[in-house]
Parts: sequence; C-alpha cells; structure tokens
Amino acid sequence: MPDDKWHSSISNIRKGEIRVRGYDVTELMGNKSFAEAIFLLLKGELPTAAEAKMFDAILTSSIDHGVTPPSVLGARTVASGGNPLNAAVAGGVLVIGDTHGGAIEQCAKILQEWAQKEGEVGKLAAHLVEEFASKNKRLPGYGHRLHDVDPRTIRLFQIAKQLNFSGRHIELAVSIQEYLAEVKRKSLPINVDGAIAAVISDMGFDWRLGKGFFIISRVPGLVAHIFEELTREKPMRQLGNTNWEYDGPKPRDIS
Ligand SMILES: CC(C)(COP(=O)(O)OP(=O)(O)OC[C@H]1O[C@@H](n2cnc3c(N)ncnc32)[C@H](O)[C@@H]1OP(=O)(O)O)[C@@H](O)C(=O)NCCC(=O)NCCS
Repeated sequence: MPDDKWHSSISNIRKGEIRVRGYDVTELMGNKSFAEAIFLLLKGELPTAAEAKMFDAILTSSIDHGVTPPSVLGARTVASGGNPLNAAVAGGVLVIGDTHGGAIEQCAKILQEWAQKEGEVGKLAAHLVEEFASKNKRLPGYGHRLHDVDPRTIRLFQIAKQLNFSGRHIELAVSIQEYLAEVKRKSLPINVDGAIAAVISDMGFDWRLGKGFFIISRVPGLVAHIFEELTREKPMRQLGNTNWEYDGPKPRDIS
C-alpha cells in the first residue's frame, strides 16, 4: 500500500501545543533568540553559544546593502506598481538568483568539494583557480563592484577565528583569494557571499542551503524598503534608468 501521509520532522502541531524540532515554541520564546530558532529549524538542534553568535553575525551581515541591489529594485518596482507588501516581497525574492545572492550556494559547493580532497590547502587552491581560469569561468564569492575589501568578510572571519570556527574551508577560501589575485593580476576580494559560504561550510551546513541564508538574511531589508516605498514615494514613480536608446527595426508597414 502506498503511504499517503506527509512526513516531516520539523514541527509537531496539536491542539494547544506547538513543538519545533521537539521543543515547545512557547519555551523557545523569550529564552532563545530568533537566530537560534532559525538555526534549530535548519539544523534540527539548538546551537551552542558559539554557534548562535556566529550564525547571528552571518544573518546580520547581509541584512541590507542599499537601494541598488537587484532584489531591492525588484521589490520596490513591484510595490510602486500598486501591489501590496506580500507581492513586493515575493517579487524581490524572485530576483535573487545565481548572480545575486546565489554565490553563497555556488561558492560553498566548490569549497565543500575541494576541501575534502587530500593535500595541502595552498596546492588545492592553486589547482582550483587554474581550473577556473582555463575555462574562463568566474569564481563565485570573489570580487565586488564597490568594496576593495568587503568589511563584512573581515568581520565574519574575525568572529569565526575568535569562536574557533576557522577550519579548512575558510583556509581554502583565503588561499583561493591569493592565487586569484596572482592569476587575474588584480585584487578580487572574498565578498560577503564567499565569506558566508566559507563560514557555513566550516560550521557543517550543506551547500544546498546557501541561497536560503541569503533569503533569510535579506527579507527584513526588503520589507523595510517596500514599506518605505509604499509610505514615502508616489505610486509608479520613475525607478529605473531613463537614459535609453532604441536600436530595433526602423518603422515599417505590415503590407
Ligand atoms: C561581483 C562582480 C559582478 C563584480 O564585478 P565587477 O567589479 O563589475 O567586475 P567586472 O565584471 O567588470 O570584471 C572585471 C574583471 O575581473 C574579473 N573577475 C571579476 N570577478 C571575478 C571572479 N569572481 N572570478 C574571476 N574573475 C573575476 C573579470 O573576469 C574581469 O576580468 P578581465 O578584466 O580580464 O575581463 C564580479 O566580481 C563577479 O561576477 N563575482 C562573482 C559572483 C559573485 O561573487 N557575486 C556576489 C557579489 S556580492
């Protein structure tokens, strides 16, 4: 007989009782932080004090980065078109993809695959960078349009070191940065996505959660931007670039 039940190990809900991963949600409330509860959801266990601090710092690092990131422009555009907050949040989240926010997942996948290979980290990094360069592929998690050094990376690695989370993945990420600079003859700093990828890998998170980290971190920022758009700006204002040029066919007749 096929099993037609839903199976889930996340929450157990009964009349008057809500348990998340076995813990009563009312006990979590007031005793554990929001970040600790998110860790519990994702990992299935409550974090240690060190894990909680590291995880909280990760979530804070990507909370917002101004009005120009594509997801914020998307969210504000949906709101400006006369849609409610929920539609605008969904619009902003839909903009998150392989080239915006997706670098955490891609970089964590690479770090997790390569860090488990045998050999000295420096040699692995050199090999990895050469492999990407020979295929003319970019390394996700490196480079930034604005920052020469991403301040969030420095801080995340500092906290990781203080809390003893600095392991082979962070070591590999830093080594890649050095070889990448040599090969590309320019500095391509580990950006916040790359830093998060390295830290979550050293914390034992599966790379497939990568985009989830960005979404969980950035949605509060999107909500704030959407609320500002709805309350401060007029509907359907000019949000995009007005400097445009048509380069299609000249006027023509269908006959
Ligand atoms: C973030 C990013 C789009 C910023 O790019 P940018 O500063 O506008 O730089 P450009 O796209 O103009 O690239 C400039 C040069 O650096 C190289 N470069 C930039 N990022 C690179 C990377 N991650 N790996 C390898 N080479 C890279 C480009 O190939 C280009 O080389 P060239 O001059 O030989 O053609 C870019 O660094 C990138 O694609 N990074 C990977 C994706 C990523 O981490 N995204 C998350 C951003 S927070």
